[in-house]
Amino acid sequence: MRSYTLTAPAKINLYLEIIGDRPDGYHELAMIMQSIGLADQIEIEANDVQLIRFRCDSKEVPVDRSNLVYRAADLMVQEFPDSFATYGGVDITLHKHIPVAAGLAGGSTDAAAVLVGIDLLWKLGLTKLELEELAAKIGSDIPFCIGGGTAIATGRGEILSPLLGLHNTYIVLAKYRSLEVSTPWAYKTYRSLYSDSYVTDKESLSARANAVHSGEIVKAISHQNASEVAQKMHNDLEKVVLPEYPQVLQLKESFAKYDILGTMMSGSGPSVFALCDSKDKAEEVKLHMRNEIPSDDLELFVTQLINYGIQVR
Ligand code: C5P
Repeated sequence: MRSYTLTAPAKINLYLEIIGDRPDGYHELAMIMQSIGLADQIEIEANDVQLIRFRCDSKEVPVDRSNLVYRAADLMVQEFPDSFATYGGVDITLHKHIPVAAGLAGGSTDAAAVLVGIDLLWKLGLTKLELEELAAKIGSDIPFCIGGGTAIATGRGEILSPLLGLHNTYIVLAKYRSLEVSTPWAYKTYRSLYSDSYVTDKESLSARANAVHSGEIVKAISHQNASEVAQKMHNDLEKVVLPEYPQVLQLKESFAKYDILGTMMSGSGPSVFALCDSKDKAEEVKLHMRNEIPSDDLELFVTQLINYGIQVR
C-alpha cells in the first residue's frame, strides 16, 4: 500500500488537576482524557523524492517545520533512517475540522495520525506502546491520542491507564473562532498564581497522582453514571483562563441555563463543552445556544464521546 487515510479524533478533559512542578519544567498532572467524534482526516502517501511535504486545507494551520505534523514525520525519519531510505519521502495532506488552539488536542491528534500512518507505510510493525513512547518525545497529549477512548493520564500526561468509558453520551462543544488560548501561557500563569499550593515531595506527588485512580469521577465512569461524572468534572486551568477570557465564562454560564448534565472548559481552553445524555438533548441545547448567542464567531458542534483514537480508513 502506498497511501493511507486516517481519522484523528479530538479530545476533551473530563478532569484536569495540576499537582506540582517537574524538574523538566512541565507540570505533574492528573487528568481524565476523553476522545470525541469531532475529527481531522489525514492522508499519507509515499512520494519517492526523499522529502516530507505537508499541506493543509485550512489557512489557520501553519505548514512550516514548527507544526506537530511535520515534527512527527521528522521524528520518524530520525528514528528509522533505513526505512526512510528504502520507502522514500511522505506527502501529508491534512483536512482540518478540529478548531485550532482550542484545548482539544487538534495538533496532537494529527501528529499521532502521522506516527501511525508512517508506521504502516514503512511496514515498521510498531506496537501501541512503542508508538506512545515516540509520541511522548514531541508532546504530552500525543501518546493518549494514539489509542484514544477514555484514560487516566498522569506524569506529564503520557502515563496512561485506559478506562471503559461512558456509552451514549453526547456533548455540545462551543468555541469562539477568533479566540485562542496559548497552553504555555495558561500553565505559566497558573504557576505564578498557585505554585504555593504545589505538592513538592516525591511521595506526596505520586500519592496525589494515584488518588485519581480511586477517585469519585473514575467510579462514576465505571458505573456508567454520566450525571455523576458531570458533577465531578474539574479543570484547574479554569482558574486562570476564565478571569482572563470573560467570553469563556459566558459560554459556561449560558450552557448552565439549559437542561445539561454539566459544563466544563476543555484543557487550556477556550473551548467549553456541555455533557448531555442524548443526541436530541445536545441538538436542542445547540439550538438554544445559537439563539442566545447569534454571533457568527461562535462555532457549535454536537458530537459523541467515543472509545477509540486514530483509525485507518
Ligand atoms: O507537551 P506540550 O508541548 O503539548 O505542552 C504544551 C505546553 O503546556 C508546555 O510547553 C508547557 O508549558 C505546558 N505543559 C505543562 N505541563 C504538562 C503539559 C504541558 O506545563 N504536563
